[in-house]
Amino acid sequence: MAYPGALIAVERPGYPLAWSAFRAAGADVIGVPVDGGGIDVDALEKIARTNGRLRGVYVTPHHQYPTTVTMGVARRLRLLDVARRFGLVIIEDDYDNEYRFDGRPILPLAARAQSDLAIIYIGSLSKLLAPGIRLGYAVAPPQILIQMADRREALERQGDLPLEHALADLIEDGTIKRHARKARRVYHARRDLMARLLGERLSEDAQFTLPAGGLAIWLRLNDGLSAETWAVSAAKLGLSVMPGIHFDLETMKPAEAFRLGFAGLDEHELTRAIDIFERAKPSS
Ligand SMILES: Cc1ncc(COP(=O)(O)O)c(C=O)c1O
Repeated sequence: MAYPGALIAVERPGYPLAWSAFRAAGADVIGVPVDGGGIDVDALEKIARTNGRLRGVYVTPHHQYPTTVTMGVARRLRLLDVARRFGLVIIEDDYDNEYRFDGRPILPLAARAQSDLAIIYIGSLSKLLAPGIRLGYAVAPPQILIQMADRREALERQGDLPLEHALADLIEDGTIKRHARKARRVYHARRDLMARLLGERLSEDAQFTLPAGGLAIWLRLNDGLSAETWAVSAAKLGLSVMPGIHFDLETMKPAEAFRLGFAGLDEHELTRAIDIFERAKPSS
């Protein structure tokens, strides 16, 4: 879709591939800070008030990417209210909806959508099955879905119908649900293991809040430690880790933090990874 001149508010830190998609459509992106409760809605409102180009806001409220925080109820209601008052489209990326370990499942923002508010809810099978399975889904008002389908058709006439049918069968016969349940159990255990290892080995250098779900831990470094330097030294030992600068719109003052994924590593691999990570720590 081409939206020259439009402005989309995005979380900062956030998901760079989403920014690329907005830019590829001709829009500009503007960063809104994220805190322990998700995107700062007061800052968003300020932008909406002062910038008439603002058309939408892209959020990951279930587990904010990359910081993993869950947006609380009050913040969600404020976000819906600001979107309604300023006519903003909310793009809700619920990429890891299946992975909630603690407490009750969280309803998407889109579940509260009413007809006076446009929410584009998008999900992916990347985290549930495999990133190579290029299938996702969207729930949105009909006029937006029609536009999305038209653009998609122009790019790639009909998508991958055999794959869609195969997955529909697996959804209907309960296979996907069983798989999700099992994956949730496995990832829950991996989260707990990574949290324990980080607590035992790195509590003098870094802090984290245990994420209530998802696929990664956001590890914040203590003052004086550089995540980039640490990442370079880990790479030399064969470990690839993502420092905060990867997730920031501006490189001047990136978060001194890491998004450490636990889901793809078994117990042995996780233990080894944290071993290497600890060894790679630069002297502050
Ligand atoms: C924030 C976020 N959204 C969406 C996705 C899924 O993207 P895709 O469905 O294109 O694989 C990912 C995967 O890494 C992600 O991290």
